[in-house]
Formats: sequence, C-alpha cells, structure tokens
Amino acid sequence: MASIAFIICQYGNVILNYTTLNLQSCKQAHPMTLVQPMYLDQINSLKKELHAIILAHNYQIPEVQDIADFIGDSLALSREAAKTDADIIVFCGVHFMAETASILCPEKTVLIPDLDAGCSLASTINSYELQKWKKEHPHAVVVSYVNTSAEVKALSDYCCTSSNAVKVVNSIPKDTEILFLPDMFLGSYVGQVTGRKNLYVWPGECHVHAGITTDDINNMFRKYNHAEFMVHPECGCTSSMLYGMACGDITKKAHILSTEGMMQHAKNSDSSQFVVATETGILYRMKKENPDKMFIPVNENAVCKYMKKITLEKVVDSLVHKQYEVKVPKHLADSARTAIERMLKIS
Ligand code: 13P
Ligand code: SF4
Repeated sequence: MASIAFIICQYGNVILNYTTLNLQSCKQAHPMTLVQPMYLDQINSLKKELHAIILAHNYQIPEVQDIADFIGDSLALSREAAKTDADIIVFCGVHFMAETASILCPEKTVLIPDLDAGCSLASTINSYELQKWKKEHPHAVVVSYVNTSAEVKALSDYCCTSSNAVKVVNSIPKDTEILFLPDMFLGSYVGQVTGRKNLYVWPGECHVHAGITTDDINNMFRKYNHAEFMVHPECGCTSSMLYGMACGDITKKAHILSTEGMMQHAKNSDSSQFVVATETGILYRMKKENPDKMFIPVNENAVCKYMKKITLEKVVDSLVHKQYEVKVPKHLADSARTAIERMLKIS
C-alpha cells in the first residue's frame, strides 16, 4: 500500500447552495463584507459577555469568516485554541477540529454550532480498525492526520496536518515502520516526498478532494497558461501531479500546499493569477486578502457540505444557549494530547 503512485479517482461531487437571498443582495452592496450589522452587534456583545472567541476554518462560508476572531487551517486553529485565554471557544469548522481544541484546552468550554458538521475522511477509520491494523504491525509508529476522531488520535503516536506531515514523518527514524492514516492521497504524497518504503497508508479519502481529478488539472493547465497552480495534498490528482513534476511533464508553476500554505503563497507570490485545487470556501479569504489578484477554483463543485453546516444563525444560537459542547473524556484526551503535542513541537 505504501507505493500507491497513480491513484486517479472519479467521484461524484456534492453541490451545495448555501447562499441565501439576503446574503446575495448584501454581497452586491458590499462585496467583501457579508455580515449583517444586526448579527455583528449581537455576536460581539455575546462574545464580550461570555469571554468567548470564534475560530473559523478557511472553508467556512464568507459571513462566518467575517465574524471570526481567527481564520486558519487545522494547525493554525489548534495553535490558536492552545494559546487563547478565552473561557469559551466557538469552533466554526468540523467535529474533529472542535475535539482537537477540547483535547488541547480541557479547562475551556468548546462549542460547535452544528453537531452534524462531520468529516467523510475522519469517518474512514475507527479505533477498532486501527487496533487491528496495529496488531498486524506491532513495531510500527502511528502517524494520524488531524482529520481523525479523538479515539483514533488516542491510539496514535503522532498527529500531523497537511502543512507538517512531511516534517513529522521525517522526524521518525528511517528504519521504523510507519502506519499513516487515514488519507491515501496525502499518505502517498508523503511517501513520495520522503522516499520512505516502510510507510503503510490507510485507504481513506475525502470525498471533496478525491473528486478533484487529474483531468480537472489538465483542463485548467490548457485554459490558464500563465497561472500558478496551488493543490491541496488530499486531492485525487496529487500523486500524478508529483510524478508529472518530477519527470518534467508538468512545467507550470505548481505547488502542493496546505490551506494556510496556499494563503501564504498567494500573498507572497508575484503572480497575478492562481488556479486553486481545494475546497472552494478558501477563495473568499484569498480574494479578500489579495484584491488585485485573480483566483480560479479548479473544480467549482469542490464544496464540503459539512463545513457549510455552520451558519451565522447557528453561531448566535451556539453563544446564546452554549450549544453544542464538545468534550473529549479525560482518559482519551490525555493520550490524544501526547500525539498532538509531539506534532506541535516538530512544526
Ligand atoms: P488543512 O489542514 O489544510 O486546513 O485541511 C483540513 C481539511 O479538512 C482539508 O480538507
Ligand atoms: Fe473532511 Fe473533506 Fe470536508 Fe476537509 S473537505 S472537512 S477532509 S470532508
């Protein structure tokens, strides 16, 4: 399984229309300020009263990004959760991210505005399956992508995110077997970049990123000749892209980056046009922070229905009713924390 080199999958995409009529008219009036003042005042006073902070992932809907105190990728959000002195963290992202915040800040109240905000990738492995896999490789070290449940993290030696997976794997002695889970595209990418032959990869995938195919990328290569390409390592096209880059077939400016890596690159690059291969929610922040540059989604249907479960109304309800609390039991949190802290030390 370690050498999955050319995994090219064709999957159906989830199309979700989350933009309401109100927001549509608001967008026309103020293209980059989508929050209605009523919500803004209410959320600001509730935050003050409760000593709360709002963290939002890069894929959140624009109006949620606009009211967040901090927007970032999984790693940046974990760091922010670990250092905040707020009493309440409202986590606008998906369930495993709120669990990570609860693991890192057991004394704080972590709320997720909608309990149905799950993750198809995190659901591809549970603790029983991991225990069984570990038994088959008794000397292996387990590296779990942050997109996993607290139970799975508790059985892992290291945690990693898309921005530090290579660094984490490189920190492990070369002769030690590694079980990498759950994303096969990220795992295959890490295997190729690090050149490890003893890295075994769980065959999980994110339905959104697996749906971004080599055909999508090739079509965009033809269409946007002068653009730079930014590709998330969870994408179904990552392995063939790496191969194309290594053997010189891909001569375009192409980069495989985490969502925060994309944000940094968009800001620092001299290019004015970027094709973006990840969940489309990130384009709002890219355009907002780089108004003179052009960002094109590689696949407009790359929408995570779980990320879009969080709305402004639900954020308000979350603050008013202190719902829904995500609390990882102490015995699991203590084990999972070791894996996360090892990662934070390395990156
Ligand atoms: P990042 O770690 O890049 O934020 O990605 C998380 C995620 O869920 C990607 O789908
Ligand atoms: Fe999970 Fe994929 Fe959604 Fe990210 S985009 S939260 S990996 S389902």
